[in-house]
Amino acid sequence: MRRRSVLFAVVCATGLSGCKATQPPGKLETETVNYAKHHFFIGNRSEKNPLPYTPQNWQDGKEAFSHYCIACHGMDGQNTGVPFADHISPPIPSLASAEVQSYTDGQLKWILDYGIRPSGMPGSSGTLSDDELWSIVLYIRHLPPAGSQGVPEMYTH
Ligand code: HEC
Repeated sequence: MRRRSVLFAVVCATGLSGCKATQPPGKLETETVNYAKHHFFIGNRSEKNPLPYTPQNWQDGKEAFSHYCIACHGMDGQNTGVPFADHISPPIPSLASAEVQSYTDGQLKWILDYGIRPSGMPGSSGTLSDDELWSIVLYIRHLPPAGSQGVPEMYTH
């Protein structure tokens, strides 16, 4: 339990400016923000994923995801075992949700490159190569069933 709160504090300090326990945003507000994100803010709509779906590319995506994303999104991209996923504002979405899946591949890549400000979603451009980012996009498109990958190791102690 203590470790968890320490980790939470660290995650907050490293850029989760949305790290406050607030009421979830109202429905209208959420819909408006979602519409704006899908139509105006997120660039790169038409770029296609240069990596074809192959077991190897998927595995590479899963691997990269497990290094950089699971602290907030869980092993399965569906928040399994992430203790604060619902307690920050905005909450961490399931990457399997219709809202996230309705982005184009190019938009997902853009989100990974630049992150989403002012929420806690960090950008990875410069940390991860284009290949790694595209393989993560592939992984997001083919997520394993929720809960099937267990809890990230950092939350099991
Ligand atoms: C520090 C916690 C944190 C880390 C690490 C993190 N994310 Fe996120 N992610 C978030 C939060 C918070 C949101 C919600 C952002 C919003 O809705 O404004 C989010 C949203 C997303 C979205 C959906 C964006 C949307 O508009 O709904 C995708 C896709 C995503 N993350 C992928 C990733 C990937 C891939 C990685 C690893 C490269 C990653 N995230 C690392 C916290 C994180």
